[in-house]
Amino acid sequence: MVAPAETILEIRDLRTHFELEDGVVRAVDGVDLDIRRGEVVAVVGESGCGKSVMARSALRLVDRPGRIVGGEVRVRTDTGWADVLTADGRTVRSIRGARVAMVFQEPMTSMSPMHTLGDQIAEAILLHEPVTKAEARARTVELLGRVGIPAPERRAGEYPFQMSGGMLQRAMIAMALSCGPELLIADEPTTALDVTTQAQILDLLRSLQRDTGMALMLITHDLGVAAQLADRVAVMYLGAVVEHGDLADVFRRPRHPYTKALLRSVPRLGARPRERLRPVRGMVPPPYRRPDGCPFHPRCEEFMAGRCDVTVPPPVTGPEAGRAVRCLLYEETRA
Ligand SMILES: Nc1ncnc2c1ncn2[C@@H]1O[C@H](COP(=O)(O)OP(=O)(O)OP(=O)(O)O)[C@@H](O)[C@H]1O
Ligand code: SF4
Ligand SMILES: [Mg+2]
Repeated sequence: MVAPAETILEIRDLRTHFELEDGVVRAVDGVDLDIRRGEVVAVVGESGCGKSVMARSALRLVDRPGRIVGGEVRVRTDTGWADVLTADGRTVRSIRGARVAMVFQEPMTSMSPMHTLGDQIAEAILLHEPVTKAEARARTVELLGRVGIPAPERRAGEYPFQMSGGMLQRAMIAMALSCGPELLIADEPTTALDVTTQAQILDLLRSLQRDTGMALMLITHDLGVAAQLADRVAVMYLGAVVEHGDLADVFRRPRHPYTKALLRSVPRLGARPRERLRPVRGMVPPPYRRPDGCPFHPRCEEFMAGRCDVTVPPPVTGPEAGRAVRCLLYEETRA
């Protein structure tokens, strides 16, 4: 039997809330997720389901009025496990960038418009590693070349506003890779780009992931993107992972009615021209009003009155290894 790959990130019952004047938004509401060494995990779900807040919470990068109110985020280090949520500031800074790095959904959250690309990347290297300025500079140019930026020496001296969207995304990836992370979290890395550039960035991520052996958490609302890159998939709805497992298993035999609906909403290769796409019916409920019982029940085609609107579905494992679903239809197979 092949030994399962080592887990490097373990998220348990993560909860992040936004306390606003009109009420509390439970943006992340009990996420469980594991990432193993060297694998690609896609996190998918409709807009607003908590993908970005979950990823930022994993690095303790949530700004007010957001607050991480519970859970654990354990990262494997050389000396054992560190819980990002309770560790001291020094430990958290040593994890960010060097073990877990992130490419943010809004490019300018991690880039300063006031400094050249080269200075920003070199700064990130100097912060984490005992190298000279000249060494950091040389590494920067090498990294820019590695992410496919032409004339990297010259580009290192340019400012973010001088670059196209695709080039800027490459530069952000270079910055995230600057300290050789074991896990890269890429939050919608292709959404703002045209189709051709999207394909190039996905190719780049795939080849970097293979060359370096780092794990990749790819956050996307695009199931096609997930299908191209991921080994495993986690489907999020209203702040929780409702189904996860090997990508091929989940896409071939989805169990959760939400996963089924999402998959039906994607155009299939070879579909007949008249075949109509069916979007997931209904709307994501307003963030302050979380439905009782199963959070998906107001939209679910398999809703069971008296059960789904009352009971919160626990995770049910199987049928394949590493697979789980949160839906009362599967209660009977609970491990
Ligand atoms: N700064 C904030 N203040 C208040 N609410 C917030 C804030 N940031 C996020 N939220 C809320 O948290 C929930 C989750 O947001 P998040 O950005 O994680 O969604 P997402 O899945 O990344 O969506 P998208 O696909 O659009 O990027 C949403 O209901 C959102 O309105
Ligand atoms: S628990 Fe009920 S409402 Fe929720 S997904 Fe399953 S069948 Fe649908
Ligand atoms: Mg997002």
